[in-house]
Amino acid sequence: MIIGIDIGSTTTKAVSIDADKVINKIKTKAMDAPTSAAGALGKILLEYSIPVREVEKIMITGAGATKIRSDLFGIPTEKIDEITAIGVGGMFLAGRENIIITNIGTGTAIIEAKKDRIAHIGGSGVGGGTIMGLSKLLLMTSNFKGIMKLAESGNLNQVDLLLEDIMETDISFLRREATASNFGKTLDSAKHEDIALGILNMVYQVIGVLSVFAARSKGIDRVVVTGNGSDNSIGKDILSFITGMYAIAFEYPTNAEYTTAIGAGLSGHRETFFKEKL
Ligand SMILES: Nc1ncnc2c1ncn2[C@@H]1O[C@H](COP(=O)(O)OP(=O)(O)OP(=O)(O)O)[C@@H](O)[C@H]1O
Ligand SMILES: [Mg+2]
Repeated sequence: MIIGIDIGSTTTKAVSIDADKVINKIKTKAMDAPTSAAGALGKILLEYSIPVREVEKIMITGAGATKIRSDLFGIPTEKIDEITAIGVGGMFLAGRENIIITNIGTGTAIIEAKKDRIAHIGGSGVGGGTIMGLSKLLLMTSNFKGIMKLAESGNLNQVDLLLEDIMETDISFLRREATASNFGKTLDSAKHEDIALGILNMVYQVIGVLSVFAARSKGIDRVVVTGNGSDNSIGKDILSFITGMYAIAFEYPTNAEYTTAIGAGLSGHRETFFKEKL
C-alpha cells in the first residue's frame, strides 16, 4: 500500500492506494508541514486500522512538501512536484488524458495533462483563500458553512453592475444578466447575504473565465475541476452560467478534493504511472 499526502497551504489530505485503487482518504489541518504530514499519516492509519508494516512507501506533495526532509517514521518517503501530482490525479479521476484541470485550493492552478506531458499553464491567487479573507473583512466571519448559508439568499443585483444595468440589448455573446463589473454597483442597501454571494460570484467567475481561456488555447472544450473549491454548489452554478456563454463544460469527478494526494500516491506506484496507465 502507498500513502499519498498533499500538504496544501490550508489543509492536508492523505489517501491510501492499493493496486491502483483509492482505498481510504482523510483531511486534516495543522500549523506546520511536519506536524501536518505526521498527523495525516497517523490519522489515516488509525482511522482505518492500517498496520504500519503494510505501508510500502509514502509520497508527499503540496506547498509544504519541501519542509519534509527525511523519511516519516522509517517508511521510505519520496516527494513529487504538485503540478505532476494534480495532472496524474486529475487524469485518473476523469478517466481520460488530454484534459485541462483547474485546481481550486487556497489559490488556483490550471494544468494541462496529457499522456506523456503535464504542464502548468498558469493560474491566479484568486481561490478559496480569497473567499475566506474577503468574508472575514466584509462579513466578520470565516466559517465556510456560514458564508454559503448567507450567499444562498443573496441578490447579486445589490452589488454587481450587470450588463442590463447599462445596456438595452445583449453585447456580442454576453447575456443581459452577465456581470459588467463585480461589486461595481454596491448599493447602500446591500446586505451581508448579497456581499457573500458577490464574493463567491467574483471568485468563481475569475476562475471560470481563466479556465475557459486556458482550455481554448489548447483546443479543449471541457475542464476538470478539483481541490476543495470544486465542492461548492453556488460555485458550480456560476461555472455553469459561464458554460452557457463560452461553451466550455466543467466536470467534477468524485473525490476531486483529494486529486493532488491521489496523484502523488499513484506516482509512487510506478514512476511512469501516467504514461503506462492512460
Ligand atoms: N466548499 C468550499 N468551496 C470553496 N472553497 C472552500 C470550500 N471549503 C473550503 N474551501 C476553501 O478551500 C481552501 C482549501 O482548499 P484545498 O485544501 O484544496 O487547498 P490547499 O491544498 O490547502 O491549498 P493550495 O492547493 O492552494 O496550496 C481554503 O481556502 C478553504 O477556505
Ligand atoms: Mg492543494
